[in-house]
Amino acid sequence: MSIGSIGRRMLGPFEHRVSQWVKAVFLNTDKLSQAIVAAGAQGRILEVGCGDGILAEALMRQLPPTSEFLGIDISENPGHLFGGDRTRASFQNITVAELAASAPEPFDVVAIIDVLHHVPDAELKSLVDDAFSLLREGGLFVIVEWERRKTPGFWAGWFSDRCISGQQVRFFTADELLNRVTAQMAIGSLVTRQRIGPIKSNLLLAWPKLARQPVQM
Ligand SMILES: C[S@@+](CC[C@H](N)C(=O)[O-])C[C@H]1O[C@@H](n2cnc3c(N)ncnc32)[C@H](O)[C@@H]1O
Repeated sequence: MSIGSIGRRMLGPFEHRVSQWVKAVFLNTDKLSQAIVAAGAQGRILEVGCGDGILAEALMRQLPPTSEFLGIDISENPGHLFGGDRTRASFQNITVAELAASAPEPFDVVAIIDVLHHVPDAELKSLVDDAFSLLREGGLFVIVEWERRKTPGFWAGWFSDRCISGQQVRFFTADELLNRVTAQMAIGSLVTRQRIGPIKSNLLLAWPKLARQPVQM
């Protein structure tokens, strides 16, 4: 068990507050949520790899009140720290492939936030493709990643993931994300590409999903 998960267990009722503080060292979740909403997020939102739900809570504060949220994660008890309105937000311990196989109504927004650097190379493309398949045409595809940079801030994030959370991680540059992860996907031009503080390794990218091309006869 990692230092991080032992610490979380010991926090008990203080886990929510402390997790928010720790997250805020690396990422301003309100600024990120505002930027995602400014990029056009609304309606039915899917977050792949939602974790404890702290980010979902910040996102739901910014989204229009008619929005609905589904968070999925392969970890146990996803969304257990979510403190927002549970009539509009739900969480499932399910893989994105399992969700795609159940053919739900396509989502207006699919977001993968701070997840891809945890996913092994062999699974990366299928995870992104399955997530993208759950998005409606014209919907918003959002990726947020901890961009590999030669800065102390980047290395602080690396240390936190690798040594405190004890996870196998590797990180992408912005070009690797653009050229490799989203290669050959039916996406339009970037709606937004921006860094979110306080540590500028947080890279937000969002694209519209293009309509399928009609088959040429
Ligand atoms: C750093 S947390 C990010 C949580 C949340 N998105 C946030 O930004 O606060 C990374 C999450 O990705 C999840 N994850 C890793 N691989 C995954 C996969 N193949 N499918 C779904 N979730 C995955 C982990 O379980 C973990 O909860």
